[in-house]
Amino acid sequence: MQNIEAYQKSFITYLRDFAVEKEPKNLYQPVNYILKLGGKRLRPVLTLMTAEIFDGNAKDAMNAALSVEVFHNFSLIHDDIMDDAPLRRGKATVHEKWDVNTGILSGDAMLILAYQLLENYEPTTFKALAKLFSKIALEVCEGQQYDIDFETRNNVAIPDYLKMIEYKTAVLVGAAMKMGAIVAKASVENQNAIYDFGRYLGIAFQLQDDYLDAFGNPETFGKQVGGDILEHKKTYLYIKTLELGTELQQQNLVSTITNNALSSDDKVKKVKALFIDSGASEATKNAVEAYTKKAFLVLETLNISEDKKQVLKTFGQQLMNRPV
Ligand code: IPE
Ligand code: IPE
Ligand code: MG
Ligand code: MG
Ligand code: MG
Repeated sequence: MQNIEAYQKSFITYLRDFAVEKEPKNLYQPVNYILKLGGKRLRPVLTLMTAEIFDGNAKDAMNAALSVEVFHNFSLIHDDIMDDAPLRRGKATVHEKWDVNTGILSGDAMLILAYQLLENYEPTTFKALAKLFSKIALEVCEGQQYDIDFETRNNVAIPDYLKMIEYKTAVLVGAAMKMGAIVAKASVENQNAIYDFGRYLGIAFQLQDDYLDAFGNPETFGKQVGGDILEHKKTYLYIKTLELGTELQQQNLVSTITNNALSSDDKVKKVKALFIDSGASEATKNAVEAYTKKAFLVLETLNISEDKKQVLKTFGQQLMNRPV
């Protein structure tokens, strides 16, 4: 096994060779733009790492890792259109830099490229990868639809929220790992266990993403801070404020979010204060920790060396404490 930075580095080298200029430029430039914009490369690193955890070779998992990262970046282009987001990784989003139509079509092309990358595998592995990919890609769409539906719904409860983030985010993290396990020809038990580990980690990851959307440092976060508040997202922070807050805090939250007379800055500031005062921000941090622990419990069922378990735990800890 290598360390996280080494996986990241070899992945980025591979990605550079993939993201080359092609015609028509207006289709492929945005593809290469988003792919080279940076990002944590969390999912492909997990694919490569998992392949080696199950005694496979990271090199063999490279196309699967790239497929996952291309799919993730496709989903970001479309997500930024849907969320009306101006910033991604500290730069203009694709639909801001080009336009919405470009974002739609370049995104579509990336979804196809992601599938195409799986064609590099022999039939048995290809079939297993493609089957998993289709299943979770559809779930991501379902999760994204719930996320949008919830913007205009006032009765979203924690279980609804958890299902939504499991679909829009966590299943892809689980699948990134399972793909590494499939390439390494791990047993079905191990494939499923590592999927569950990734799924729980993915839930913790999205909870932390919600937290950072409000409380991240605007200098380094790379996305518009308070974007979820402005888009009326039913995040864990929002739902918990309604659950834990006083009657007055609850009323204030709803009236502030929908108050069009307030400037964006004032709105975000007021809502963040309510998140903190109600105890929702603390509850969110606790939930991040709880789901990370759930992931670690799954590790106990895995038949791999303690060293390897430790690498995965370190990864989980780092995610939980990340600033972006
Ligand atoms: C952003 O994912 C979308 C979510 C599922 C929260 P990342 O936070 O992994 O984005 P990058 O790839 O590192 O920019
Ligand atoms: C994104 O969730 C999930 C997918 C892209 C499928 P968010 O909308 O919270 O992601 P960010 O915060 O824009 O990265
Ligand atoms: Mg978004
Ligand atoms: Mg979104
Ligand atoms: Mg977010």
